[in-house]
Amino acid sequence: MAPWTDLPRPAGGDDAELAGRLGLQSKIDMNVPSVARVYDAILGGKDNFAVDRAVADQLLTVVPGARASAQAHRAFLGRAVRFVVRSGIRQIVDLGAGLPTVQNTHSVAHDEEPDTRVVYVDNDPVVIAHARALLANDARVGVLDADFRDPGLLDHPDLRALVDTDQPYAMIMAGIVHHFADDRVAETLVEQYKTRLPAGSYLVLTHFVTGTEEARKMEEIFMGGDLKSGKFRPIEQIKGYFSGLELVPPGVVFDPLWRPDEPAPGEMDDVFKVGVVGVARVPG
Ligand SMILES: C[S@@+](CC[C@H](N)C(=O)[O-])C[C@H]1O[C@@H](n2cnc3c(N)ncnc32)[C@H](O)[C@@H]1O
Repeated sequence: MAPWTDLPRPAGGDDAELAGRLGLQSKIDMNVPSVARVYDAILGGKDNFAVDRAVADQLLTVVPGARASAQAHRAFLGRAVRFVVRSGIRQIVDLGAGLPTVQNTHSVAHDEEPDTRVVYVDNDPVVIAHARALLANDARVGVLDADFRDPGLLDHPDLRALVDTDQPYAMIMAGIVHHFADDRVAETLVEQYKTRLPAGSYLVLTHFVTGTEEARKMEEIFMGGDLKSGKFRPIEQIKGYFSGLELVPPGVVFDPLWRPDEPAPGEMDDVFKVGVVGVARVPG
């Protein structure tokens, strides 16, 4: 089947049309922004409502480089997926998968190794509807409508049908942990998920990081506005999420600096310093 990104999309801008097409009129409050749709709008996607575009527009006005920054994050995700598959991983669980955009996990993985099984997990109705519609015919890819706050989702039969969690697999937490503002909740969840990774597995985790004026402005818009989600944390705290694992060099770094395909520019704009990323292997 055609990769997600190649499928025809209607032009954005008609909220009722989008909700109707996905059969979600009764499930969505179109007056409340969602993390998945705001992120889609920041990336320039079409699967978002006016209320989401308002948040994205506000952000792009205050931090014009935010789209390039989000694109750099997606590019990292592609490199990380390629890395784990080239390291021998053939099963991936993508937690907080988001809307189809560029460098989708399964497309990157299948370019490397067509047999790789991928399960996307999210709890946003628009994400789930898109994923189910577009991936219905691909037996190698599953979609699970589940809440990240329940690590028991790893035992769901739909996930287990594709991923044997007793064997090494890659677990992706890209752009999701910072949506849990309570430090203890975020840390506990990451720790609980880590206990479910057998030796030889990989954790891919990305997170908003404090330290720049751009980060401060972004957090103000995400946490202070209608979205009320997106907590920036100090890098030391984010490094702690990888404790007990073997960090793959270069460690926890800004998105563009993780094993770039092209040499990274010497001087990097601060807008690329709003998030850090890391990939780590479970020892043994
Ligand atoms: C910023 S997007 C990241 C998308 C993609 N992983 C990436 O990095 O490009 C965060 C995703 O996490 C999902 N999410 C947020 N809270 C969640 C929860 N409690 N359970 C499942 N998914 C959640 C959102 O719906 C959204 O799709």
